[in-house]
Amino acid sequence: MERLKAAFTEALAAALPGMEIVLERPRSGEMGDLAFPCFKAAKALGRNPAQVAQELAGALRIDGARIVAAGPYLNLKLEPARRAAFLLDALLGPRPYGSGDPHAETVIVEYSSPNIAKLFTIGHLRSTMIGHALAQVNRYLGANVVRINHLGDWGTQFGTLLAAYKKWAEQENPRLEEDFPWAEAIPEKMRSPLYRLFQLYVRFHAAEEEDPALRDEARAWFRRLEEGDPEARRLWSWFREISLQAFDRIYRRLGVGFDHLEMGEAFYQDKLTPTLDRLEAAGILQDGENGARIVDLEDVGIATPCLVQKADGSSIYATRDVAAALYRQDTWRFDRCLYVVGSDQILHFQQIFAVAEKVDPWFKGRMVHTPFGMVNLPEGKMSTRKGNVIFLEDVLDEAVSRVTAIIDEKNPDLAGKADVAEMLGLGAVIFFNALNDRVKPITFTWDRVIALDGDTGPYVQYAHARILSVLRKAGGGWADMARPERAPSDASAAVAYAPAAVPSDLAGLAEAPAQALLFELAGLPDAMRVMAREHSATALARQLLAVAKAFSGFYTNCPILWAENAPEVRDARLALCVATARALRQGLFLLGIQAPEEM
Ligand code: ARG
Repeated sequence: MERLKAAFTEALAAALPGMEIVLERPRSGEMGDLAFPCFKAAKALGRNPAQVAQELAGALRIDGARIVAAGPYLNLKLEPARRAAFLLDALLGPRPYGSGDPHAETVIVEYSSPNIAKLFTIGHLRSTMIGHALAQVNRYLGANVVRINHLGDWGTQFGTLLAAYKKWAEQENPRLEEDFPWAEAIPEKMRSPLYRLFQLYVRFHAAEEEDPALRDEARAWFRRLEEGDPEARRLWSWFREISLQAFDRIYRRLGVGFDHLEMGEAFYQDKLTPTLDRLEAAGILQDGENGARIVDLEDVGIATPCLVQKADGSSIYATRDVAAALYRQDTWRFDRCLYVVGSDQILHFQQIFAVAEKVDPWFKGRMVHTPFGMVNLPEGKMSTRKGNVIFLEDVLDEAVSRVTAIIDEKNPDLAGKADVAEMLGLGAVIFFNALNDRVKPITFTWDRVIALDGDTGPYVQYAHARILSVLRKAGGGWADMARPERAPSDASAAVAYAPAAVPSDLAGLAEAPAQALLFELAGLPDAMRVMAREHSATALARQLLAVAKAFSGFYTNCPILWAENAPEVRDARLALCVATARALRQGLFLLGIQAPEEM
């Protein structure tokens, strides 16, 4: 396909000297495989786009393809057998389909970044899975990717935790092993020291409303922590450890990894003074109200100054982010740094980026905040302070139990039911996130998330499982061709497949439904590129749905194992099945979703 694109681009460039050639993907395979919109060229020539398209159609020749004008578009349409050969070569060949050559670009993806003792919410799940997918796709396309978890392991909330622990736990429940008599009962599966730490946090915030003096106590504890007080440090590191254990369990369940889990906010403690010095040296550090230190951003159109040091001398969230940006610049000289964080922090990142650019214009254009909207659960908004948070593990467990109920009804004898339900339940939640990866808030309703016949993860997983069932029935090693050579590992974004032979006779793929499936498969590499360029998982999720739907059309209209099929027809169709299964599994894997063989 890349070669075809190059040939078409070259022919167009020769016909339109000096003009930039940008190809698009037509809306359907009926129209063609590649489209060249003639608007810009026509404008430059002072002519009508449809006429330009007509003339180009008459003048250009590409072997094995037709070039047709459709209004203002010039479409290149491959002959059916060519299309099939091109795509099957690419899909079954030695190189992971759509992957890019390794290149020197360094992309930092910062994601997940939960807060210690505030538990992991579904908002963090969005960051985790979108960030994971962006990291995967950039790796797949050949970039050097650094995956960082900017853990919330420093900050005034530790003052709160320390003060609360001293008050209500240290005497009677020092290891947080018992339930607190004053707290609400904890659901059985969530009973853990971390949960109790969270209860301390919630209680403190409630008490603080009544008695503002508590706020000073918490502040004083954070000061002690920043000053290196041994007791504060010891408790801090223990709080951190119990949180990390819980997070680790979630990451393992989700199959998500990081290159740097140690680079949370606390990592920058010893870099805060040098950072403030840098700001000072750049001449941008100013005095704010009663001794606080700020960077004014009015000149770059941001009305709110960035507070970098509080009146009491303690650091804040923003200071640590500026320090992190400088550290990452020094360490990686990155091309891009993506911050996968909710849209409630848009202003924060505008400020951080502006401060970094003031220190060094090098940062301009390299820092990207990829915001996503909040998830509205029917139960209401999530807030840690009040304690009415919807915890991620609850959501995942609920998804799995709903899927289990569906399997019990439809396929009660399914082997490995629990594993399949886990893959489908997680797949449903993750896919929903990917598909709706945008700034506006999304509403999470179970029917939309898991429906087997909707725009869901399980729908795509089902297409994959259905293909494997056809391939198993076909015998002759066909199913093995759709199986990876080894289990996917965190080390690579590519699923390991052995190259497979493309049948020489592809006449069995000439019919429209087979061609439509090929056309959608051809859209996957573009979707991956869009995903990397727009920092959004939506394009790939959509294209996987399109492939799954097109497969369903092919499966219904083009009998595969039909007794009357000539062997070449059967083989060509089976090869397309293998190619589709591989592409689906790879695409799902990039999003962080597993594909069961049976469901
Ligand atoms: N810990 C923060 C939160 O849960 C997210 C951190 C985002 N990353 C950053 N560099 N500030 O809200």
